[in-house]
Amino acid sequence: MDMPQVAEQQQKATIAPPLWLLAELTYRCPLHCVFCYNPVDYASNLNELSTDQWISVMRQAREMGAAQLGFSGGEPLLRDDLEVLVAEGRQLGFYTNLITSGVGLKRERLAALRDAGLDHIQLSFQDSTREMNDFLTHTKTFDLKSRVAAMIREFEYPMVLNVVLHRYNLDHIERIIEMADKMGVEYLELANTQYYGWGLINREQLLPDRAQLQRAEAAVARYREKIGNRMRILFVVPDYFEKRPKACMNGWGSVFLAVSADGSALPCHAAKTIPGLQFPQVTESTVHDIWYHSDAFNKFRGDDWMQEPCRTCPEKERDFGGCRCQALALTGNAANADPVCDKSPYHHVITEMIGRQPTTVVQEKPLVFRNDANSRRLSADGATSALASENKMSSL
Ligand code: FES
Repeated sequence: MDMPQVAEQQQKATIAPPLWLLAELTYRCPLHCVFCYNPVDYASNLNELSTDQWISVMRQAREMGAAQLGFSGGEPLLRDDLEVLVAEGRQLGFYTNLITSGVGLKRERLAALRDAGLDHIQLSFQDSTREMNDFLTHTKTFDLKSRVAAMIREFEYPMVLNVVLHRYNLDHIERIIEMADKMGVEYLELANTQYYGWGLINREQLLPDRAQLQRAEAAVARYREKIGNRMRILFVVPDYFEKRPKACMNGWGSVFLAVSADGSALPCHAAKTIPGLQFPQVTESTVHDIWYHSDAFNKFRGDDWMQEPCRTCPEKERDFGGCRCQALALTGNAANADPVCDKSPYHHVITEMIGRQPTTVVQEKPLVFRNDANSRRLSADGATSALASENKMSSL
């Protein structure tokens, strides 16, 4: 074995291959959700990989060992070639998962996706009421989603429902659970908003208060007891209310590989918000090279990059210092400890934020809906970097 081969072997021994490939097929979307995690500047580049380019990415990732394949967006059903991509994914041996709003999922399409071998569908709902669902998405989709949910069951897919929670719908949690139970949902994911992308833009309006959150947690516990195994309920607490950060992406460049609609390879959905990192394009490099050798994927791997208090923290193997994108958004430096951690010198940024009385904010600041016009306006204004420095300023 020559020296470069030895170096390659050593590199592979320390870096595990990706397990998850998330194909963000398109940023086009019929919904306009105020908590969407897509990049705020998505409309400045709406280029999309071709069918053949996606197939090449899938083949390469599968050869490296990836086993889970998620199709998301935007709304992946807007891609006419979704069935082709699902069939290819299935043939390659992936477990295929469609993450969808349900808009565009007609009976013929669902039959075609099933015939192509789609394994799993995760349907999103925004609330138990038509009014709030349609308000938060700026669409009239509640009835349509209800019909899609029934159809998914009819096609004998496990019924998996995802509802993003925040100040506007946390008090409806009992009705949301009852709605899901009536729909025959087997797995209900109640995920509190993560403050990236559009969620970060709307954070002050969406952030619940602690009492609201505690009521919701108590309701979930009651319903778990009542419903038993008929429906599994996952309740993801907003990490702003925790004392230790989440192990975001199970560690940067550890198991998760996202490819954005335009072909950028990313260690997480929000990675492009981190300045100074060049994210490689799958049209210019192999997935293998990107995963093992690119600066972007190696930047926050392991613990060499860590600063104190993470560097010497006994818990660093468990949470990897938290989320890089959140550290950037709240402290201005992606290499800082995630300020969710109460050991972080920036933890007060979070405690001050959740301690604020939001009533006036909610009344004074309108929600910003995710749409092309707002995306272009906010990117022109440099809104996300302005928000990051605003957070940083308030922390100093
Ligand atoms: Fe980017 Fe957590 S979302 S590292």
